[in-house]
Amino acid sequence: MKFTLLMIVMLIASSFVYSQKTNEDALNKKVNELLAKMTLEEKIGQMTQVDLDAIKKTPKDIAKYAIGSLLCGGDTEVPDITAKGWADTYEKYQNIALKSRLAIPILWGIDAVHGHNNVDGATIFPHNIGLGATRNPQLVEKIAAITAKEIKGTGIQWDFAPCVAVALNERWGRTYESFGEDPELVKNLGVAYVKGMQTKDLSNKNAVLASVKHFIGDGGTTNGIDQGNTEIDEAALRKIHLPGYIETIKAGAKNIMITFNSWNGEKVHGHKYLITDLLKGELGFKGFVVSDWAGIDQLDKDYKTAIEKSINAGMDMAMIPFGPDRANNYLQFITYLIELVNEGKVSMNRIDDAVQRILKVKFEMNLWENYKVDRKLTKEVGSAEHREVARDAVRQSLVLLKNDNNILPLSKQLKRIHVTGKSADDIGNQCGGWTIIWQSKSGNVISGGTTVLQAVKNTVSKGTKVTSSLDGTGAEGADVCLVVVGETPYAEMFGDREDLSLAKEDVEAIEKASASGVPVVVLLISGRPMIVENELRKSNAFIAAWLPGTEGQGIADVLFGDFKPTGKLPHSWPKNMKQIPINIGDANYDPLFPFGFGLTY
Ligand code: BGC
Ligand code: BGC
Repeated sequence: MKFTLLMIVMLIASSFVYSQKTNEDALNKKVNELLAKMTLEEKIGQMTQVDLDAIKKTPKDIAKYAIGSLLCGGDTEVPDITAKGWADTYEKYQNIALKSRLAIPILWGIDAVHGHNNVDGATIFPHNIGLGATRNPQLVEKIAAITAKEIKGTGIQWDFAPCVAVALNERWGRTYESFGEDPELVKNLGVAYVKGMQTKDLSNKNAVLASVKHFIGDGGTTNGIDQGNTEIDEAALRKIHLPGYIETIKAGAKNIMITFNSWNGEKVHGHKYLITDLLKGELGFKGFVVSDWAGIDQLDKDYKTAIEKSINAGMDMAMIPFGPDRANNYLQFITYLIELVNEGKVSMNRIDDAVQRILKVKFEMNLWENYKVDRKLTKEVGSAEHREVARDAVRQSLVLLKNDNNILPLSKQLKRIHVTGKSADDIGNQCGGWTIIWQSKSGNVISGGTTVLQAVKNTVSKGTKVTSSLDGTGAEGADVCLVVVGETPYAEMFGDREDLSLAKEDVEAIEKASASGVPVVVLLISGRPMIVENELRKSNAFIAAWLPGTEGQGIADVLFGDFKPTGKLPHSWPKNMKQIPINIGDANYDPLFPFGFGLTY
């Protein structure tokens, strides 16, 4: 009896393996048939990814050079930034691509790193640091699936996310793009993100290709310098920075973005051991790798030499942001790479390998059918249903650091609540970098959403008066004063800091509130832990809210006790700058708050 059962199980398992293998064979056959029809120029076209800004004056080049991919960087301009406008732009350029001789659809990539953040009216979720605080992979999977739908609503099929950086130094301007300082946490949430983004099967209509980035070591640079040097031995590199890649590849990741940083002085964009031996060889990665923004250019002053080095290291696709008016543009890339092949400096095998990888992913995505915009999804961008999930994510991301005398939760029946601080009524500050524009900005940068002040007003009883100011003044006589302060938007190297103390106006706002004699609740909106020992002393309660995005209502849900705080610190919280870098597992670990800390009520 047991024996027959075992036999049946084995039979099913082997037929599964068999059918997987036949699928794989069929796929490879399609890829090779197409490859056989391609000229060298067309192959190199597939390896070329051009920023829309660089090609919009010469759109016919997309068909002429059979360009394989377009991207829109953080500042790339499209005529209409609503979902419909993006979908129209997408269609226009995709239709040009389909006029190329072999009519291979383009893959279009974008940085939807906290929702589809280049689109006005999109749902903006907390940045990854806040998702790290939720410790909730199911939630992250849901967020990624919604983000994928909003992306597909604009036709785009490729997201430059998740970032699986393990951010070890809070000075780093990209700390908020990381889920946290713990490789295990990063790995789990990275896997959840890939699953949600790509769905069960990449060929599904709503699936979007994830790009796991930035391989490898981006969060470990010395002094947290963006694009800097990660100075650690191989054992540490593998232990800290590799798990996110191992597990997302197992979960089906088919694209990986190479990092700007160096490993012990050698730029990863030209690192054959890391890209070819480790990633493609040892880890068995079967998808394709893409360079970062003009990342190849950094390998050598001579662009042709740089291309040779990177392609031979295993780079499959080059991200090229500049147009014909800049030195290192797509036409030069194509010309030089053709020359390099003809000169025998890059082998035809290497080119074929790169193109096979890219085409295989395009076939796996069923791009020849799925390139069309689903206009039903266009209408769902920023829907109430999507925002509800973002609001839930905000609730779960809040970390309560202090709550003296259980001043929180607040009663909805108080006579007067004073809300103050520069970020109390500021959707731009709430969202942080990578919102509509690359660096983003304070103020009304995006339509839709709820600021903290609006959320408080929405929540309290009719009889409660809500007063407000920007600078900490005016709290006298109120029942409680909520001070909302923190960082203003930045992205990448523009966020690198040597000092993470609060800005002068924030310190003063907290001081004024505290001098009013009214109980003070501080809400910190920031992309990372900051130096707040003094401000903690001056407050009765203190919440780290990270960069929550558009759905500020989730903050009021927790402040007024409709939901309990459950968030846990994704970083060790330093007492002062001298302690940075401070990470869980350090010898003499003595942070202000340890990794995982978070109160509740
Ligand atoms: C960033 C990437 C991003 C790319 C495209 C680069 O500067 O490092 O994270 O995906 O630009 O915008
Ligand atoms: C682009 C970003 C890119 C950055 C790289 C910006 O101009 O908009 O997408 O990541 O440059 O330095």
